Amino acid sequence: MQPSLPNRAIEWREQCLFLLDQRRLPLTVDFLRLKTPQEAFAAIKQMVVRGAPAIGITAAYAVVLSAQQHSVSNMTDSELQSLKTLITADIDYLALARPTAVNLAWALAHMQQIVDGCSAVDATGLCLALEQAAVQMQQADVIANRRMGELGAAYIKKGSAVMTHCNAGALATAGYGTALGVIRAAHAQGKLSCVFANETRPWFQGARLTAWELQQEGITTQLLADSAAASAIQQKAIEWIIVGADRVAANGDVANKIGTYALAVLARYHGKKFMVVAPDSTIDMATSSGADIEIEERAASELTELNGTAFAAPKVAAWNPVFDITPADLVDVLVTNRGVIEAPNQAKIEALMA
Ligand code: MRU
Repeated sequence: MQPSLPNRAIEWREQCLFLLDQRRLPLTVDFLRLKTPQEAFAAIKQMVVRGAPAIGITAAYAVVLSAQQHSVSNMTDSELQSLKTLITADIDYLALARPTAVNLAWALAHMQQIVDGCSAVDATGLCLALEQAAVQMQQADVIANRRMGELGAAYIKKGSAVMTHCNAGALATAGYGTALGVIRAAHAQGKLSCVFANETRPWFQGARLTAWELQQEGITTQLLADSAAASAIQQKAIEWIIVGADRVAANGDVANKIGTYALAVLARYHGKKFMVVAPDSTIDMATSSGADIEIEERAASELTELNGTAFAAPKVAAWNPVFDITPADLVDVLVTNRGVIEAPNQAKIEALMA
């Protein structure tokens, strides 16, 4: 029998972090139990957990693991200060796990504020404050996704087909999803005829994760090779291309999974609409434009091997940037939990974030 999607990909229980191992989906549903920030760092880097909001939430729990790891009972005031210094060092280290999704830095900055501002007199109080902050972050993400789902679905006309890229679903967030949240809401309103899901080379988030999530919702889905997207947009009745984001710069430029930019260009050329769905934790007012966003480059082996088996020309060099930048001009609608911006630009985003 096909395994079903667990309620959550990230679970905090027994003072440990449990992560659904997304590398093994959809064939195997298996949770890893993490006890240290070092294990959480590795899980983010190795894509056990992926997707901008999910990475941020994982990092927040990693800070709780750090506090637990370094705590001893009956700490003096100066030992408590040293504990805070050790947690801060772990926060700096966790920030290096992946560079592009700003949710990682955003979540860690929030946890750092709790560390700095916490008036607890002992380690237990500090651990508790951090745990509460991480749990709240996880809960708030689902609420934000549901809100964006409603806001985005209002743009979808009855009978529409849509296209999505990568996985911006429950697996990439605390639940429900950003782009898939809009698709879920539109489906619940009976508006969708079909979702075209791009396979998303080289890691196959679309084929393995998005198609699986959509199947479990009973949403009519067609899987596409990335290179078939242009023909689908040209020939099928696709009204909207709907994607998530790893970082939205202050001017509205969007970093998202490699291939997103090409879809935005295709949408504009063919008169289709392009929607980006992202919570305010993904909007980075400190980065003025997409040119300032660091694009992660991953190992060539992700292109030259499949499940550990080499298939490309032996020793061929490979370039593997895993995100690209879509200029704000190509975005028709930016849906956030704070509201919707049509034709986003710096002034509109500043007003939204004020
Ligand atoms: O490399 P990944 O799988 O972490 O990339 C994920 C994406 O690009 C998603 O589209 C993005 O994080 C939005 S998730 C709600």
